[in-house]
Parts: sequence; C-alpha cells; structure tokens
Amino acid sequence: MAEKHFKYIIIGGGVSAGYAAREYVKQGLAPGELAIISKEAVAPYERPALSKAYLFPQGAARLPGFHVCVGSGGERLLPEWYTEKGIELLLSTEIVKADLPSKTLTSAAGATFTYDILIIATGSTVIKLSDFGVQGADAKNIFYLREIDDADKLVAAIQAKPNGKAVIVGGGYIGLELGATLKINNLDVTMVYPEPWCMPRLFTAEIAAFYEGYYANKGIKIIKGTVAVGFDSDANGDVTAVKLKDGRVLDADIVVVGVGGRPLTTLFKGQVEEEKGGIKTDGFFKTSITDVYAVGDVATFPLKLYNEIRRVEHVDHARKSAEHAVKAIKANSEGKPIVEYDYLPFFYSRTFDLSWQFYGDNVGDSVLFGDADPTSAKPKFGSYWIKDGKVVGAFLESGSPDENKAIAKVARLQPAVADPKQLITEGLNFASKI
Ligand code: FDA
Ligand code: NAD
Repeated sequence: MAEKHFKYIIIGGGVSAGYAAREYVKQGLAPGELAIISKEAVAPYERPALSKAYLFPQGAARLPGFHVCVGSGGERLLPEWYTEKGIELLLSTEIVKADLPSKTLTSAAGATFTYDILIIATGSTVIKLSDFGVQGADAKNIFYLREIDDADKLVAAIQAKPNGKAVIVGGGYIGLELGATLKINNLDVTMVYPEPWCMPRLFTAEIAAFYEGYYANKGIKIIKGTVAVGFDSDANGDVTAVKLKDGRVLDADIVVVGVGGRPLTTLFKGQVEEEKGGIKTDGFFKTSITDVYAVGDVATFPLKLYNEIRRVEHVDHARKSAEHAVKAIKANSEGKPIVEYDYLPFFYSRTFDLSWQFYGDNVGDSVLFGDADPTSAKPKFGSYWIKDGKVVGAFLESGSPDENKAIAKVARLQPAVADPKQLITEGLNFASKI
C-alpha cells in the first residue's frame, strides 16, 4: 500500500484534534500539509455532548450540530471546512503501530503515513469491569460511554426499554450525568458506587450531599459503599441483574458503567517518556522525542500555577493545550519565542436544571456558602478551598456567567484570607470584589 507523507499529522480526531486544526489554519496552513487520522467515523466534535443533550428524549443534540468548536462559542467546523482548508481528514482509520524514530504510522488496513511533526491526541479509553474480571460483565445492554458509536448504542437501548430499570455503576462524572439523563428518559434509575459520597475526587462531603439529595428527590436510588461483582443475563445474553458485593441483587434492563478512564498511550510505550500515566511534555507540549507533541487527556504537563506535573482529563484543557501546542510548533519553526502554558484548571458539569463550575485546586480546607438545600426552589451555593492562608479553589452551583468569571479570578489570583469564616459569611461577594 502507498505511503503518504504530511508535514503535520495529528493522531486522534477528538476535541484536541479539532481545536489544533483550527489553530493551524489561524497560524497559516498550506493545502495538503495537515492530516488528522481518527478511528472515529465522524469529524471532530464536542465530546461532552454525548453524556448530556445527545441522550435527551426530546430535542436531542445530533451531528452536525456539535462539531468543534461550538462548545467554546467558536465556529462550527463541518467536514467541508477541512476539505476547503486542504486538511486531510482520514476517518475510520485506526493507527495500530507508531514508530517514532522513523516517523511512521501504520493503520489497521496496512496504510503507512509519515510526518515531519506529530501531535498525539489519542485521548482516553474507558476502564471496563471485564478488566478486573467481574463475572458476566460482557452481557448485552451493559454500556460504556466514550465515543459517538457508544452513545448511539445506548440511545437504541433506551428506546428499546421504555420505563425499564437502569443501574449506573460509578459515582463520578459519567455516573452523575448518566444517572440524570436516564431518569429524564423515564427509566427507573439506581446508582451504585464504592465511596462514601459521589464524585469524591472533586466534591467535599457537603457538596456531594446536595447532589445526592437532589437526585433522591428526582426518584434516583443511590447505593454507596459497595461495588458490582457480577451480572446475570438471560438466554439471549441480555443483562437481567447486577450482583453487589454486599449481597444485594438489583434487577436491570440497562447498565451503564463509568468507573474511570485510561489515557491511550499504548502505541508509544517504550518510545517516549511517561509520567503519572500520561506522555510527559514540557510547557509547550513537546514530548521527550523531537518533533512529537502530546495534548489533551494523554499529556502530563507542567501546571505552572502549582509548580507540579499533572494530567487533566477535561475538555477546556484539551482545547487550550491543542491550541498552545500548535502555536509552539509555529513559533519554533519561525524561531520566535512563546510563553509556557499557564493553565488554570476548569471543570464543569450540567445535570437536570443544575450547572456547576470549578476553578483551581481542591486542596487544603474547604468552606461551603449559600443555599445548599436540595429541596429549595432555587438552590445556589459554592465552596472555597484554602491552603496556606490563600484561596486556591472555588466551586459554584447555578452561577451566572459573571459570577463564574469571578470565582475563576479568585482561583487564579489566590487572595489571602485571614479567617475562613469570612468566606462563609461573604460567600460570592468575596469573589465578586476581587
Ligand atoms: P478525545 O477522546 O476527545 O479524542 C481522542 C480521539 O482519538 C478519538 O476520536 C479516538 O477515536 C481517537 N483515537 C484514539 N486512538 C486512536 C488510534 N490508535 N488511531 C486513530 N484514532 C485514535 N470534560 C469536561 O470538561 N466537561 C464535560 O462536560 C465533559 N463531558 C464528557 C462526556 C463524555 C461522555 C466523555 C467521554 C468525556 C467528557 N469530558 C468532559 C472529557 C473530555 O471530553 C475529554 O477530556 C476530551 O475529549 C479530551 O480530548 P482529547 O482530544 O484528548 O481526546
Ligand atoms: P471518574 O474518574 O469521574 O469516576 C470514576 C468513578 O468510578 C469513581 O468516582 C467511583 O465512584 C467509581 N468506581 C471506581 N471503581 C468502581 C467499581 N469497581 N465499581 C463501581 N464504581 C467504581 O470517571 P468517569 O465518570 O468514568 O469518567 C470517564 C472520563 O470522562 C473521565 O476522564 C472524565 O473526566 C470524563 N468525563 C468528564 C465529564 C465532565 O467533566 N463533566 C463528564 C463525563 C465524563
């Protein structure tokens, strides 16, 4: 099979790839210089839609509606955009071998691609229950959610099981977002997770108590402190029940599992330096190998604000790291200087009528302010995290755009606070006056 050469290749066709393509065009790109190679069958899209509006029973989001870069208020890059710009979008093409020393990628179909500069943007894959040998975990109607194909299969199952019973395994981002969307689809939802409260990697017990109360009021059952250890299925192979470690057995027509992600670095193992599970980069997303960059979920990069190396699995960083890498590639080629990436972590989620944002670092002590009563008509509350006498992180439920900007500013500027009680009484006013 013929070999194809490109000046620039991006491996992966997700969020980072789309934002990187737009940045390449902004910086000046000649036709034929860039190829995006993606195992997905569609042009880059805003992945967060898959666990939210994509699953709505009415007015569901569908492509081409949420191609990048609409998620950040930018232009929607339809497949034609790539053609117009002379960008080769090689879809349904999985790279199965990457040889970094010879700058050669090989696809599952045996095609080879060579490049001058590579951006690795392979994102993450889901951790599966079968990875830990959970009995019966390969039954039909047990779903994971990462790509649009997964979402389509889930939509078909939701439609096939009206008013059915759904069990959600996992209490993180996927668990909470899918718990809500399946409830909106009128399924009878039970969530199961091992920790004492949901989303423990970000939420404090007080924050979690609000969401758990809110979900309970919506009729969602929550079982904490245990895990799924097995599944029963019928003669068709369809799941019928989830067996829990504490001995309980839950009837199930649909199971959705969200027990975490794993960055897709396998192709590059042994060829490039890794740290904290990701591909190690500098503040320009350059890896340990010349002309190879890594962005998005796979990159472990210097988080300048905290003087630490971290990996971030969220869309805002995917977008910004991709843009920064392309700016660095262009600056490098022109011998121009460029500042290091200086990222303020930003995470968010939306479920039911709720919407929260978090900025900064959730370390140190925390305080809660506002109305966190899940039965209130319009609950609105937040939290600050304080470390070494400074506010380092801020969370806000139901904030306005200006209020969200204010908490972002606090997290970035890290103002000193003499008495944390001041934050409880002042609440949002503390952020607004910074
Ligand atoms: P991304 O996963 O977007 O893209 C990777 C691409 O590489 C995929 O197209 C994949 O098929 C392809 N690929 C991988 N290996 C390949 C190979 N060998 N050959 C060819 N192609 C290959 N974040 C957030 O901040 N807010 C939110 O609300 C959400 N919501 C959300 C919902 C769901 C369902 C998921 C799965 C994730 C989120 N996220 C999120 C996380 C966010 O979507 C994620 O951090 C970014 O998509 C990461 O962007 P990347 O470009 O790194 O990977
Ligand atoms: P996660 O890390 O957010 O949550 C994993 C959860 O799995 C844990 O909180 C725990 O409750 C649970 N868990 C772990 N082992 C378990 C077990 N054996 N049985 C039952 N539960 C178990 O991961 P996720 O929710 O699967 O999300 C996957 C990826 O998608 C992440 O990268 C996440 O950032 C991303 N995502 C982000 C958003 C968002 O930012 N709004 C939304 C959806 C997905």
